[in-house]
Amino acid sequence: MAVAGIPPEPPDVLVTSRPLDEYCALFDLTRAQLAALPGPLLDCPGGAAGLAAEARDLGCRVIAADPAYALPLPVVADRALAARAAMADAMAARPFLYPSTLPHRPERYLRSWDRARRLFAADSAAHPQRYVAAALPRLPFADGTFALTLSGYLLFAYPELFGPEHQLAALAELVRVTSPDGEVRVQPLHDGRGRRCGHLDPLRYALGECRIASEVRRFPRAEDGRTRRVLVLRAADRRRRADM
Ligand SMILES: C[S@@+](CC[C@H](N)C(=O)[O-])C[C@H]1O[C@@H](n2cnc3c(N)ncnc32)[C@H](O)[C@@H]1O
Repeated sequence: MAVAGIPPEPPDVLVTSRPLDEYCALFDLTRAQLAALPGPLLDCPGGAAGLAAEARDLGCRVIAADPAYALPLPVVADRALAARAAMADAMAARPFLYPSTLPHRPERYLRSWDRARRLFAADSAAHPQRYVAAALPRLPFADGTFALTLSGYLLFAYPELFGPEHQLAALAELVRVTSPDGEVRVQPLHDGRGRRCGHLDPLRYALGECRIASEVRRFPRAEDGRTRRVLVLRAADRRRRADM
């Protein structure tokens, strides 16, 4: 799992461990859509998610990329446990920021993270090739490798680490490694305190200048019907196979 030369992630970035169902809710995806993907899915950052392990059972191949994978597995697991504790504290201190946990008691929600973390630990030990140590804005994958790329809780969640230039470079890199027929989905579009990204429009304009089409897709959260937003990116000059 470890790859030399990749610096570990900054310690103040949480290594979270979400399960597949939470990914589906956050990115407006269904299990059926994952099962039908025509190619592999990239999860960057992968954190200690259960996604790769769970999606394989659907027939969906997932590669997770994260600088934390340069660390030994027990250290990643410790970081994920620390993230769970931080999340428990945050939910207790500011419950209004975590409406997605409302239908469940926080403890039940966090138990889903425990399960995902155990799946990650087992899967990354058994299949280390699925977990690639890499840090945005540079990924070690060829152009167009992935049918779908997901990027959650990083680029807009930590504005102190990712300024506009860094975000632009990272988003362009995610598009580069994604098939011209596929798409990149990024969420959330706010920081850890719920503050929306204030430069989303100029950032989308800059993406357009790089020939990347963007859309802010809005969909209702199943829990309470409130709107969730995902940034969807595609290579603007993609040529479909039928045209080639
Ligand atoms: C809050 S977790 C998000 C994990 C997962 N996507 C999720 O939604 O739960 C943030 C992750 O970003 C990783 N990270 C930090 N810097 C990164 C970078 N430059 N490129 C890719 N991942 C990075 C951290 O190691 C950490 O695992």
